This record gives sequence, C-alpha cells and structure tokens, in this order.
Amino acid sequence: MESGGNGVGRDALESDLEMLEDAPVLEVVEAGDEEQAIRSSEPLPDAMPVLPLRETVTFPDTLTPLAVGQERSITLVDDVLGANRMLVMVASRDPEEEQPGPDQLYDVGVAGVVARMLKVPDGTIRILVQGTQRVRLGPYVAEQPYLVARVEALPDVVNEGPELAALTRNVQRTFSEIIEQIPYLPEELQMAVANLDDPSALAHLIAGALRISIEEKQQLLEEVDVTRRLRRLSEILARELEVIQIGSRIQSQVQSELDKGQREFFLRQQLKAIQDELGEGDEQQAEVNELRDRLEEAGLPEHARKAADRELSRLEKLPPQAAEFGVIRSYLEWLVELPWSRETEDKLDMENARTVLDADHYDLEMVKDRILEYLAVRKLNPESHGPILCFVGPPGVGKTSLGKSIARALGRNFQRISVGGVRDEAEIRGHRRTYIGAMPGTIIRALRDAGSRNPVFMIDEIDKMGADFRGDPASAMLEVLDPAQNDSFRDHYLDLEVDLSEVMFICTANILETIPMPLQDRMEVIQLAGYTIDEKRHIAKRYLVPRQVRENGLTASQIEFADPALTAIVEEYTREAGVRHLERQIGTVCRKIAREVAEGKVDGKVRVSAKRARELLGKRVYFAEQRRRTRMPGVATGLAWTPVGGDVLFIEATAMPGQGNLTITGQLGDVMKESARAALSYVRGHQSALAPDLPENWFADHDIHIHVPAGAVPKDGPSAGVAMAMALASLVSDRPVSNEVAMTGEVTLTGQVLPIGGLKEKSLAAQRAGIKRVIVPGRNEGDVEEIPEHERTDLEFVFVDEISDALNAGLDPA
Ligand SMILES: Nc1ncnc2c1ncn2[C@@H]1O[C@H](COP(=O)(O)OP(=O)(O)OP(=O)(O)O)[C@@H](O)[C@H]1O
Ligand SMILES: [Mg+2]
Repeated sequence: MESGGNGVGRDALESDLEMLEDAPVLEVVEAGDEEQAIRSSEPLPDAMPVLPLRETVTFPDTLTPLAVGQERSITLVDDVLGANRMLVMVASRDPEEEQPGPDQLYDVGVAGVVARMLKVPDGTIRILVQGTQRVRLGPYVAEQPYLVARVEALPDVVNEGPELAALTRNVQRTFSEIIEQIPYLPEELQMAVANLDDPSALAHLIAGALRISIEEKQQLLEEVDVTRRLRRLSEILARELEVIQIGSRIQSQVQSELDKGQREFFLRQQLKAIQDELGEGDEQQAEVNELRDRLEEAGLPEHARKAADRELSRLEKLPPQAAEFGVIRSYLEWLVELPWSRETEDKLDMENARTVLDADHYDLEMVKDRILEYLAVRKLNPESHGPILCFVGPPGVGKTSLGKSIARALGRNFQRISVGGVRDEAEIRGHRRTYIGAMPGTIIRALRDAGSRNPVFMIDEIDKMGADFRGDPASAMLEVLDPAQNDSFRDHYLDLEVDLSEVMFICTANILETIPMPLQDRMEVIQLAGYTIDEKRHIAKRYLVPRQVRENGLTASQIEFADPALTAIVEEYTREAGVRHLERQIGTVCRKIAREVAEGKVDGKVRVSAKRARELLGKRVYFAEQRRRTRMPGVATGLAWTPVGGDVLFIEATAMPGQGNLTITGQLGDVMKESARAALSYVRGHQSALAPDLPENWFADHDIHIHVPAGAVPKDGPSAGVAMAMALASLVSDRPVSNEVAMTGEVTLTGQVLPIGGLKEKSLAAQRAGIKRVIVPGRNEGDVEEIPEHERTDLEFVFVDEISDALNAGLDPA
C-alpha cells in the first residue's frame, strides 16, 4: 500500500496549508507536477537523506507541515528540492537532543515527497511533506552535512476479513464521537474519516491527528499488520473517548453545582463539613428523623401533615445553632404532641355514670339528672355534641368538682382552663410564631395536656373574662365553644385548623350577668345555689371528713367527728354558700389530731365533739348576726343576693330634728337609693295609718338617716325596698321588727310588692343567720316551691302582695 496521493488526507489538512500560505513569503517553491510526484510508486533509492523530527511522528498517506530551522536540515531540504524531492522523516527518541544522531533516532520512519517549500524572513523554512510509505532505516551511510541512511520499504500486511471490517467501522465511529467533543480537531476530519474506506490509510490519518504520546504514535507507525494496528488504535480511541467523557462529566458537574450553588450552597456545604467534623450533623439528622417518625405516628390530618413536612424540610437545611432551628423544632414538637387521632372511648353506661356522680357529690339531684340526660342523648345519637353546660353558682358549691366527675363518668380525660382575668385574646388563641417565645394559646395547650381529642374541658370563671386593647377574648372563646365553628379552630401559633368538635365543654361562673350574651346564648345554664347547714353537715360527713382524714395521714379508725361538732364548725367557723372553708376547718382539726397521734399523746380513737372542735379551732369567728342586734325600732333584716351566695342585710333608720332631709349611707348603688326614697315616700304617705300619734309635720321637722352596715361591701338592687319600708315604719310607729323575720321584695310608691330573684340563695342565707320566717313577694311563690323541701324545712314563708301586709307580718303588734 503505497499510494500516497490521498486527496482526502490533503483536504483534511487544508488549514495547515493555509497557514503555510499566510506566512510572509520570500520564495515559494512549487513542487512542479506534484500530483505525479506524490503518486510515484517508483522503487525507493538505496540511500536517502534523513530528516530527524522532534516531538512528532509522521505517517504515510498524510501531509505534514514542518518548520525547518537547523542548518543541516535546511541544507538537506535544499539538496532534496534540487533532486528527486524525496526524503525520510523519522522521530527522535530524545526530544531534548538538538541534533540527534543515528542512535537517538527510531528505526522506522516515513519516506515522503516535499510538496511545497517557502522561506520565512527569519531565515527558517517551512515545508509540506507528503508521506508515501513506511521504511526501515539503517545502516547510516553519512552523517555530514546531514544524515543519510539506507532504507527498506515496510509494506502493510493486510488480512482482509470480518475483523478488519469491524475494526474499521469501530474506529470510524469512535473517532467521530471524539471529534464531536474535541475542539482541537477540525471538523473536516470527520468527513474525511467517514469517507475513507482504506483501513490502513484510515489508521494513519487518525494516528496522525491524535494528540497522543510520541511513543504511542511510533508504535502505531511501526505496526505493519493493519489489523493489529487498527486494534491498537481502537483501544487508544476508546481510552481517549473515556477520558473525554469523564472530563466533560466533571465539567458539567462543576457547572451544575455552580448554577444552583450560589453562595448559600457553598456556605451550607462548608457548614455541613464543619458539623460533620464536630459530630453535629449526625445528631441533627437523627433529630429530624426522629421527628419525622413521630409525625408519622401522630396521625396528622392531611392539611397539618403538609405543614409539618414543609417545616421538616426547612429544619433539615438549617444549622442547629440558627435561632430559627429552635423555633421550627418546637413548632414541630407541638404538632407531634397534639392528639390528632388519639381518643378515648366514651363510657355511655348510665348506671355507671349515676354511681360515679353519686360517689363524688351529695344531692345536686337536678344537676345530676341533667348530666344523665346528656349522656342518654349521646348514647342514642353519638353524632350529637349536645349543649355546652354552664354551672353558675357561688364559690365552693362543687362546680369544678362536678366537671371532674362528669369526665370520670364518661371515661374522658379532664382539663381545667381558667379564663378568669384573661384580657388578652392571645391567651386563648396564642401568639403568631413571629413573636419571640410564642406559644399556642390555652386551648391548644390544654388539648395537648389532655392527650386525647375528646376530653372534657372545664372553662372556669368565664364570667370574669375581660376585654381591652389586646382584643376580645370572648370572641375567641365564642369560636371555641360554638359547635358551628369549633371544628376548625385556628390558633395563631399553630396557624392550622384544629378540630375541637369532639371536646365536651363545661363552663363555670359565679354570676350569669357578666357572661357576654353571645356566649350565654350557646350555653345551657345550670344553677347551683349553695347548701343549707343540714346539707353541709351531710357533705362533711360523707365527703369532706373522709377526704381530710386521709389527706392528713389518719384513718377512720383513729378519728371520728360527732354531728354536733360538724354543726358547730359550720355555724361558728364558716359563713359561705359552699363548703370550701368548711373543708379547710375540718382539715385543721384533722391536722391537729394527727400531730397528737404522731406525738403519741393519744391511744385509741379520737372522737371530735363540738367542745373539742371549738378547742382546736380557737375563738369563734361567726355569730348569728341577728342576735347582735338589740330589738329596737328602726331596724329590719333584709336578704341580699351576692355572687358568693345570699346574705342577710340589716337596714337601720334613725330620725333627728332637722328640715326633712334624707341621708343614705352604706355604699349603696343608685337603684338601692331610689328604693330608699320610694320607701320613705310610701311611709310618709301613710303616716296617719302607721303612726297616728305623730304630729302631722313630723317629717318636715326631722332629718331621716338610713344606713346599711357592712359599708365596705357595695350593695345595689331594688330588692331591699320592703326591708327599708319596714325599718322606716318601725321607726315612726315605734314598733320593733322581730329578729326572727327577714324580708325581700321591691316596693312601688303605691305600695305594691314586686318579685325579686335569687330566692334560693337568699333563703339559704336566712337559715344560716338563724331566721325563722321570711317575707317574700307573692309572685315568688313558684320559686319557693322549686327549692327542695329538705332545704326549707326550718323556714316559714309569708307571701305578700302589698306593703301593708308585709308590715303587718313583720312589726310587733302595737
Ligand atoms: N355536693 C357536694 N358533695 C360533695 N362534695 C362537694 C359538694 N359540693 C362541693 N363539694 C366539695 O367542695 C369543694 C369545692 O368545690 P369546687 O372546687 O368544685 O367549687 P366551685 O363551685 O368550683 O367553686 P369556685 O366557684 O370557687 O371555683 C370540692 O372539694 C368539692 O368536692
Ligand atoms: Mg371552681
């Protein structure tokens, strides 16, 4: 294979030729009929001039541009151009050597024909050599003025066959892939390679174009077997391609990381490396993983789950030192801990409920009935959420403890939420997370503490909620309590809808009036009035004493309270509607006995008698009020209703010489003052009937002073009208009022007695004060009948419609 005139190969190097042409030219030597010279297949001359090549290997079938600078080489070229233009190019083994001798040169080179030559102004020359065939050099016949060696042609060995064809195709394909990715190879080369079907020339063309080491090129040159040469070449190409691909992969990785990588990415990478180094990264990841697992278990509804996942992925990216890390973590903790799907199963067994309620509370039949009705409805219709119960009554009557019993009867968890004094809406609903130290509001906190989504919530002191510039907690409460909205309660901190519709709400209040109307509307009010002395004794015996005995480390075999002792404690050491102080006093007795037991001062069972109780509790604290009052004209006993239960109220009236003025003292409200004036006008109008002996202008000559003692307590309301008229009538008629009689009722100027409220509390207060007879408005008769009979056994009720009847019933006969 010696046909060197390969046009394709020449085209491939067109750019080199152009380069050659562009150089400033002094003299160009055209190779005459170059085509012919190149195609020449003349036998080689015996000896040929040898042009050593530094750092390059040429191949047959290719055009090689060469810069020639050394003198001996320039002489060589000159001589060659003057002769047959033929020379041998051979690579040097030692690139450092300026003038390599025969020993430094490889044994195999390429014979070629100088196709073109041009001189450059710096004195060097450029030549373009067409390689024609492979030759073996040696021995050298001359070294001066340039190397001359004998040459022997080394023709290709071609084994036509499938392997050769396959290798050819493989090399073509691989090389074209390489070309696509390498900028330094001219694109024309691709066309050339694709069209070249001579395997040997193909190998030469590619080998010449590749940037591989001199040694590898030389090896390819020396390989005469075309198949083996192609095999070797294809290995090299495969390797080159891989290198290129790896290179571009690295390149594109770097590129893409740079793209999304901005500053933050690099910083995070660095931070992560630092964390890993400190062993923190693992901890953080472990924490995130643990949170994820717990979220999984918590069974969040979808909308909450989404929010949680979002926060979780933010958490992963934050360094643990970041302030936000803690904020997000505690937020997630809240989500994890809320009972989204945990619930207790309701015990709807009526019998059991009755037993539990009875076990915890004495009497309170109406309340218990109402609770059992509630249970019954739930049992029949589990979907119904029922009304919100609201227990209204004075302190210590068992409102809170009833709530607990209800929870116990239902088998639900119980949480108490006190909203008394709450003025800030955020206490109910929480602060937004943007606040430092923000937390969910009291409702969500209670839900978490309850641990189930259907607990009993006792909203205590709902009547004492306030409102100010920080928003209206009542409206937040409304959202909590209203069954129409509370399935999507939104706490500011969680910023998620939470379903409160399974929660059973029970509110408590001392007075109904201050509960905002919209809230009242949604509640079913159950009044608890307070207890009689008798009831208190029962409660003490059955509940308070056993509890205090236990709490003070005693047993029923060590101590026993006699009934009179309990009565004494109730009457002499407490004055309250409920039983809280009573329990405390019983506790005091127990504590003192416990001390004696511990000191070994007692043997056997201690029986606490009334005397013993008095000894232990010290000086008597309360006296039945009416006994302190001497029975003098001008004093009447009224009955008042207060938030802490009913109370007795003494009205005192005196007269002194003057000009008919009226003075009213005792911190009375406007309504009460007006009823005092009305009472006075009535008595004045009936002077002749009430006090026939008084001079006609007695009222004009006297000033009247009405005083209601216990002035520190503000009093108001119209219901003391009857008692005021009574005191004035007693004063002017000089007839005292029985100290066993108390009265309540509003008066009009015409002498009508109008009905009043709070009768049950008032009658209980009357009993506590030792009153035997109560004068009440006739129209309150129904209310009296509603008071359980056992709570009014000691009282006689006198119903009056006219003030004159009241006076007759109250004043001693003249
Ligand atoms: N009928 C009753 N039977 C047994 N114990 C009772 C009864 N009523 C009240 N008690 C007891 O009296 C104590 C005080 O009751 P509780 O705390 O429920 O009062 P309250 O009505 O919630 O008062 P406040 O309005 O001050 O919150 C409790 O220990 C409770 O068990
Ligand atoms: Mg309470």
